[in-house]
Amino acid sequence: MTPYITGSLGRTADGLAGTDGLSATAAAWQESWDRQQEAYLPDREERFAAMLDAVDALVDGDSPRLLDLAGGTGTISLRALARFPRARITLVDLDPALLALARASLLDRATVLCADLSHPGWHDRLPHRDYDAVLTATALHWLPAERLADLYGRTTGAAAPGRAPRQR
Ligand SMILES: C[S@@+](CC[C@H](N)C(=O)[O-])C[C@H]1O[C@@H](n2cnc3c(N)ncnc32)[C@H](O)[C@@H]1O
Repeated sequence: MTPYITGSLGRTADGLAGTDGLSATAAAWQESWDRQQEAYLPDREERFAAMLDAVDALVDGDSPRLLDLAGGTGTISLRALARFPRARITLVDLDPALLALARASLLDRATVLCADLSHPGWHDRLPHRDYDAVLTATALHWLPAERLADLYGRTTGAAAPGRAPRQR
């Protein structure tokens, strides 16, 4: 497993050094979010690295289409962009504060959508019909079983032929 090297304050995992107020503030909040989440999942970075290893093994080319479900602040998307700078990423979440931080961090490098994954129509506004991999962490267990089954059915359908959804 490839260990992931995290950045320090002001220099995030995507190399987005804070040269202006917004990106510096976003980087600081990302760092704070990561520390808070690591309290629940100490091997979080290693899990993300393993997910991206799987993407690397599955995907041909350097611009995979990646779907980051319940992506929150953009943690997985930022790490995916650090590894695949030409990736075409869609992040979906429903929390306005976390989405604002995701947008401030990802800027124009990803499509960030506000949608409720427990709603049957959540996928209607996805910019791509197919994705090479579906990535998610510490979120989908909150969905009711029947909604989760539907979501797996849809994301399996959204994954390009030969690709598998990735969940950690
Ligand atoms: C513990 S956070 C994980 C965020 C991110 N995956 C990470 O690892 O940092 C759980 C996320 O699930 C999102 N979430 C929970 N229920 C959701 C739903 N029904 N639709 C979309 N997002 C949801 C929350 O807004 C939050 O961003």
